[in-house]
Amino acid sequence: MRFACYLLLAVFVSCGSGQEPAAPGVGGSPADREWWKELIIYQIYPRSFQDTDGDGVGDLNGIIERLDYVQSLGVSAVWLNPIYTSPNDDNGYDVSDYRDIMADFGTMADFDRMLVAMHERDIKLIMDIVVNHSSDEHPWFQSARSSRDSPYRDYYHWWPAEKGTPPHRYSLFDAAGDAWKYDETTDSYYLHYFAEGQPDLNWENPELRQEVYDIMKFWAEKGVDGFRLDAFQFAAKDTTYPKFPDDLDENFIQYYAMQDGLHDYLREMNDEVFSQYNVMSVAEGAGRNFTEAHELVDADRNELDMAYAFDGVDVPKYGGYELTEMKRVFTRWDSAFAERGWLSIFLSNHDQARMVSRWGDDTPNYRAASAKLLNTFLLSMRGTPYAYYGDELGMTNIDFDEISDYQDIAAINGYKKAESQGKDMEQFLTELNFTSRDNGRTPMQWSDSTYAGFSSAVPWLPVNDNYATINVEAEDADPESVLNHFRRMTALRNENRVLVYGDYELLVPDHEQVYAYTRTLGEERILVLLNFSDEAATVDLPGMEELGEPLINNYPKFTSDNATVELLPWQAVVLR
Ligand code: NOJ
Repeated sequence: MRFACYLLLAVFVSCGSGQEPAAPGVGGSPADREWWKELIIYQIYPRSFQDTDGDGVGDLNGIIERLDYVQSLGVSAVWLNPIYTSPNDDNGYDVSDYRDIMADFGTMADFDRMLVAMHERDIKLIMDIVVNHSSDEHPWFQSARSSRDSPYRDYYHWWPAEKGTPPHRYSLFDAAGDAWKYDETTDSYYLHYFAEGQPDLNWENPELRQEVYDIMKFWAEKGVDGFRLDAFQFAAKDTTYPKFPDDLDENFIQYYAMQDGLHDYLREMNDEVFSQYNVMSVAEGAGRNFTEAHELVDADRNELDMAYAFDGVDVPKYGGYELTEMKRVFTRWDSAFAERGWLSIFLSNHDQARMVSRWGDDTPNYRAASAKLLNTFLLSMRGTPYAYYGDELGMTNIDFDEISDYQDIAAINGYKKAESQGKDMEQFLTELNFTSRDNGRTPMQWSDSTYAGFSSAVPWLPVNDNYATINVEAEDADPESVLNHFRRMTALRNENRVLVYGDYELLVPDHEQVYAYTRTLGEERILVLLNFSDEAATVDLPGMEELGEPLINNYPKFTSDNATVELLPWQAVVLR
């Protein structure tokens, strides 16, 4: 059996589900249609979108200022990374007050105005809910760590030191890879699967669970439209803390994900929250195989609407990737969900390096063409697409040389860990330069003015030097820009339900350059042809003598002769 993947310290493991996909089915019958399947979600990393108060950090007023732009993209929802009060050990994924707004980002009044402004533009808001863990500065944890008798003690996981050293647990962000942190005050260890400032919450405790549902209701009452559950597949834990096998560090997903109790918690959450409001739900992580993914999202189970799996984004590696592998992974996931359940589609997010740098060619020759091709793929696949801010422009990785350039705790502690293990640090930095999460977090490039129009002060993370040419203002003015291509693709998807619900069929699976597929709904058929390479490609599509008319093309020309098609480097064509 193989296991679904999770972000590692700048190292991304590849894996795929080991099960055979189900036969393709109709999937798009009107009874199966749902508003959240039809969304195009735009992910905003609030720290990096738009600063309005001159502190070099993005804020909610900045998002409000840019909502006309967001609307112009043709997207229908925004997923915001966490905006709650936080000491920012992990940029907001360490929450110290779930009912307030991080001061860097503004106030609750700003939030309320932002939500109204989004809804006025028919843009829904999806909040990130981070409840596998809290911050160590959360009052619950402050109380819990102060005494073994604290009423909040059981909100967290503890191992009393008199029992000896606890059985090893792997931590993703700890500099020593150790998920147990000794805490002197109560002579106990606490558990943190992520950084030591992110103690794991104890979901076995019904009081904790009720607190979380109340927090979610607080936001649902405000009118938010959905929740993204951070790292939730790790929430259930065996609190007898058994010893895990020696391969824990390499295969931690196997031991951490989908443990007993998780489905009970999700059903309870659904009962308490999701079913009471018109909200959608999506979990980070989709279990360890297709069966577990279905157990999370199948409609008759009343748990979640969708989850997102990592197999797709794990395909590109430092050094390149094989297109045939990409086709295999996306096709297997699509097939497995053709009859039941629903998928999320994404090529990047705040835990990944930039889309065009990982999947495309970010050199000047092909950056624009390959970014357009990738957005064509993202917006023509089945599943709810998640587009990451800046990818609509083809923003690229930044070039950091020194570890001191990085801000991300995963990079910094990953470096310390590699150093203590005697790794080749030059090689480590070379790979980090390509894979680091900071690549995907640099400020949004709005214009060619100072700091790319993101801020009037030095930004918290440097702006990529290429902002002089890659920016919204320049791309807005150019009808052939990556940005305007993105808009054409969202318009096409919004106008053609076949792109949402239509069956997906892979053509020429073994072609090493071309990814070709059809989307079919009733009588309607769309053909997508994507040349994922720097070389021209020829492809025969037997049985496809009538290719149809190009609706989208990232080049001025399209060359075909019956069922033989020639595609220029990174050419993307959508035909009907
Ligand atoms: C997953 C989030 O996407 C990531 O950014 C974060 O560091 C971890 N969960 C911990 O919350």
